[in-house]
Amino acid sequence: MVYEIFGFIFTVYIMTNKSIADIRINYSQKQLLEEDADRDPVQQFGKWWKEAVESEILEVNAMTLATASSDGIPAARIVLLKDFSEKGFVFFTNYESFKAQQLADNPKACLVFFWKELERQVRITGLVQQVPALESDEYFHSRPEGSRIGAITSPQSHVIESRQWLDDLYKKNTLLFSGKKIERPVYWGGYMVRPVVIEFWQGRPGRLHDRLQYTLQENNVWKLERLAP
Ligand SMILES: Cc1cc2nc3c(=O)[nH]c(=O)nc-3n(C[C@H](O)[C@H](O)[C@H](O)COP(=O)(O)O)c2cc1C
Repeated sequence: MVYEIFGFIFTVYIMTNKSIADIRINYSQKQLLEEDADRDPVQQFGKWWKEAVESEILEVNAMTLATASSDGIPAARIVLLKDFSEKGFVFFTNYESFKAQQLADNPKACLVFFWKELERQVRITGLVQQVPALESDEYFHSRPEGSRIGAITSPQSHVIESRQWLDDLYKKNTLLFSGKKIERPVYWGGYMVRPVVIEFWQGRPGRLHDRLQYTLQENNVWKLERLAP
């Protein structure tokens, strides 16, 4: 018991005194070879997605969404992937948010997944469009009542006067909508990122990682290339 306590204190000491520059992991679990990769990057994403889900990764569908204004000022944030297919990758948000403003000015985006348990990263770059209203309706109605009321209540990305203001409005809307059919507000819905480039990154020992990049060509065929790590 005494040894365990000393061991714990020693580990905490080492962790808290380690410099940031010394923090690193040597990736060694897997490899990504051309002969194992699907010719279609969405199929390949599907394979990695299945493995990520089976690995019970927390927030497996959380992805960084990068956008940029028309004059090139970038912004990034996490959103949740809600669907993917050959057509594209879907997330839902507020159509009056900051990201929505950037997407209206410059309908291009980049999505990044980091599944650290599998030492994998996926980067998807593409053109963005709103999903059809019916699809947004369908997803909106599948959400729990609290989330639907939250979506109605929050003027996402806008300055608000206080936490109290938000809580009061949420309470008011809960009384107003509770038990009733809650329609999707026009300012909330989905976007689809239609991929043009998809890169799969697998961590390898000695920083010599595998990177396979698929680029959509004019003839609609995906070109597969290996990138240096
Ligand atoms: C794990 C996680 C999941 C999130 N999922 C979403 C989401 O699906 N949609 C969304 O609009 N915001 C989501 N957010 C909040 C966004 O990161 C962001 O704060 C919000 O969309 C406003 O971004 P914007 O001001 O750049 O438009 C999520 C945040 C985290 C940490």
